[in-house]
Amino acid sequence: MKGIILHGGHGTRLRPLTHTGPKQLLPIANKPMSQYCLESLRDGGITDIAIIIGGIGSNKVQEYYGSGENFGVKITYVNQDLPRGIAHAIQLCKEFVGNEKFVVFLGDNILKKSISGYVSRFQQSDASASILLCEVNNPTQFGIADVKDGVIKKIMEKPKNPPTNLAVTGIYLLTPTIFDIIDRLKPSWRNEYEITDALQMLLEEGHKIVYDMVTDYWKDTGTPDDIIHANEVILSGMTPYFHGTKEDGVLISGNVMIDDGVIIKNGTQIIGPVIIGKGCIIGPNTHIGPNTSIGDNSKLSKCNIENSIIMSRCNIDGDVKIRNSIIAFNSEIVQTDNAESKVFLLGEGTKISL
Ligand code: G1P
Repeated sequence: MKGIILHGGHGTRLRPLTHTGPKQLLPIANKPMSQYCLESLRDGGITDIAIIIGGIGSNKVQEYYGSGENFGVKITYVNQDLPRGIAHAIQLCKEFVGNEKFVVFLGDNILKKSISGYVSRFQQSDASASILLCEVNNPTQFGIADVKDGVIKKIMEKPKNPPTNLAVTGIYLLTPTIFDIIDRLKPSWRNEYEITDALQMLLEEGHKIVYDMVTDYWKDTGTPDDIIHANEVILSGMTPYFHGTKEDGVLISGNVMIDDGVIIKNGTQIIGPVIIGKGCIIGPNTHIGPNTSIGDNSKLSKCNIENSIIMSRCNIDGDVKIRNSIIAFNSEIVQTDNAESKVFLLGEGTKISL
C-alpha cells in the first residue's frame, strides 16, 4: 500500500504562525505535526509516501524530510500549484499510486492510536474506501457521515443541519477507483474539489464504503487552541526521560522529558507534562508547566509558563506569566528596566493580550 500526506494550504486561521511556513510543520511536543502522520503511516507498514506540497515555505518541508531516509520511509514530493481541495491533491498522485490501495493522511490531523489495525482490515476488504469517523460537538465544521445500522447512507461537507455528529476524519483509505470519480467531480461552493463529494459519488455509483470509529483522540488542528490541546494530549502520553543536568533546588514532577544538553538552574520548578528540547537553559527561578513544550536551544529565565508551546531558539527573560500561548522560533521577550513603557517589534498579524 502507498501513503499520501497533504502538506499544502495557507493555514490562514493560524496566522501569524503560518506567514513563514506551512502549518503542518508547527511543532507539537517538539515534533512537526505532519511527522506524526508520517510515523503513523510507517508504523502501519506504509513506507512509500508522497507528500503534497504547495504554498508558503514548502521548501521547508523538503528540507526537513529530505528523501525520507532518516525517517525510515521513501518520499516523493508532488507540487499542488493552488489549494484546490483534497480531491484535487489526491488526483495529482494518480501515477504515484498506480494500481495499489492507498492511505491519505491530512498533515494537520493528529490521531493518537496507530492506524495498523485499520490498514490491515482494509487490505483484506473488498470495499472501495474506508473512512474513520469520530464523534464531535461541532458537526457543522467537518465532513459528516449519515450512518444507519452500521451502513453509510450519505457523506456531506460541513452541512448546515448535520444528520449525525459523526465527523469524517482526515484519514482516508482508498482504492484507485477514486481517480475516475475525481475526474468527473465539480468544484464546491468554496471552489475546491472536495473529498467528501468524491466519496458521496462513490456511494451513489454503488461502491462500498466501510468505516471505523475513532474512540481515542483525534484532532484537526485548525486553530491555536487545537494545537495547544493536541500538545497536552501528546505530552501526557510520552514516556519520561532526563538527559540534561540540574542544579540544586530544582523540583521536577509528573511526566517530564528533558533532552540532551539541557541545563536547569536553581530555584526552577518543572511540572509535567513538559518537554524541553536539546540545549535549552532553564532558570534560575523559572516555573514551567504543566502542558508545555520548549523547543531546542531556548533560554528561559525567571518566567512562569503554562499550557504553551515555545519553539526553538527563543529567549524569555523576566518576571512574566505566559499562559495558553504559542511563541514561534527565534522570538524574544525580555524585561527592561523601564516598567512604564514596553518595546515591541512585531510581525504582521501578531496577537498580544496584556
Ligand atoms: C477537511 C475535509 C473535511 C474533514 C476535515 C478533517 O476539512 O474537507 O471533510 O472533516 O478536513 O480534518 P477542511 O480542513 O478542509 O475544512
